[in-house]
Amino acid sequence: MTVKLVVGTQWGDEGKGKVVDYFSKDAKYVVRFQGGNNAGHTIKVGNEVYKLHVIPSGVIQGKTGVIGNGVVIDPKILINEINELTSRGITPKLLISDRANIIMPYHKILDGGEEQNLGNKKIGTTRRGIGPCYSDKVARRGIRSIDLTDKNNLKILLERILPMKQKMIDIYGLNEKLDSKMILEKYYNYGKILKKYISNTHVLINHSIKNNEKILLEGAQGSMLDVDFGTYPYTTSSHVIAGGSSIGLGIGPSKIKEIIGIVKAYTTRVGEGPLPTELKDKVGKHLQDKGKEFGTTTSRPRRCGWLDLVVVNHSCLISGITKLAITKLDVLNELDKIKICTRYSLNNKEIDYFPASILDVEKCKPIYKTLKGWSKINTNSKKLSDLPKEAQDYLKFIEDQVAVKISLVSIGPGRTETINV
Ligand code: GDP
Ligand code: IMO
Ligand code: MG
Repeated sequence: MTVKLVVGTQWGDEGKGKVVDYFSKDAKYVVRFQGGNNAGHTIKVGNEVYKLHVIPSGVIQGKTGVIGNGVVIDPKILINEINELTSRGITPKLLISDRANIIMPYHKILDGGEEQNLGNKKIGTTRRGIGPCYSDKVARRGIRSIDLTDKNNLKILLERILPMKQKMIDIYGLNEKLDSKMILEKYYNYGKILKKYISNTHVLINHSIKNNEKILLEGAQGSMLDVDFGTYPYTTSSHVIAGGSSIGLGIGPSKIKEIIGIVKAYTTRVGEGPLPTELKDKVGKHLQDKGKEFGTTTSRPRRCGWLDLVVVNHSCLISGITKLAITKLDVLNELDKIKICTRYSLNNKEIDYFPASILDVEKCKPIYKTLKGWSKINTNSKKLSDLPKEAQDYLKFIEDQVAVKISLVSIGPGRTETINV
């Protein structure tokens, strides 16, 4: 099996960075296929902590990172990330798809404008220009990485796009003037820096698959932020689920054989939108404190709640998840009782699926199963039987309810704090 995919099953921040780093040791290429620098993936090796936003997590293991066509790239952020890693002794081996769309200054301005315009109905985006960039891609007026390498072409594209964007900025009443000359110079210059990495990565990856080389695909965000299957409109703008990897990289769906769903042992969410199992009490605070639940990208506090298996089952269904990786089990230490949501009550009826209407989701009341807690997990544990019996029961309950096997359990942020099942 050469192509392995890692996807988040909740609202992001499940610990994908840690798990991707762990699996990277066997891979030749580690590939991002959607999202942009709205993502923040943390990797901890010994005392070193790396927070990556666009560069695939596998570069920390010295593997070649590929940024696929489905990713939206803020070139300044990418260049900063390359420089920061280099200054820390890791010169990232990198390839960028020639078809990846570029986040331009007006995307970031308009992200803020749209949010401001929504007032108390705002999405709570990361304001990194992600939504406006994907909108332009679909509207066929995006600028792609290849366009940054030809100054004349870039000039023609900007002449067409900028007047329209200036009008939008003015409609939102934002005090920003787009300087076409400055944008042209700046972005062409980014193109000059990035040119050596830009290529038709889909050809290389397909070739590599043919040669039976191991490829690891790194999802960003989580299924509940997927633009079709998440809590729409409180979602991101890309296809987060497993199917997105085929589109966002240019490989056939039949090539992906192993799909690992990352499940945080409880639930978190950054930004607005419904979170059925949210806890606004001292248990929620316990999870936030022990789990250090603050956004890797925006530092916003993450909302916390009990594990929601309606969500995890929904994710398994839409992504065809073949194995689960449970993360942050250690954060549940010291709780007398632990609840798991198995179904919702909606209009006095029990349901086991995730509703499409946001109005229905807001009305859903979780139905819980209560399990016994445990006091402490030894973070040197190497097998499931080293864990407290109650923690083993918790994992078994998840496995039974979801009907997908657990292949990895993470019991601390470090690379070694991992149980390979
Ligand atoms: P990602 O976006 O899915 O890659 O997740 P983030 O990196 O945004 O957030 C996950 C946070 O949890 C990071 O700070 C990780 O270092 C940390 N983490 C990952 N796995 C574990 C774990 O098993 N236990 C604990 N305590 N922390 C973990
Ligand atoms: P990783 O890969 C958690 C959330 C934002 C907001 C919504 C839309 O680290 O798991 P956007 O800027 O994408 O238009 O914001 O999506 N969001 C994330 N939440 N983890 C992420 O990435 C996220 N990327 C976007 O908070 O609610
Ligand atoms: Mg994150």
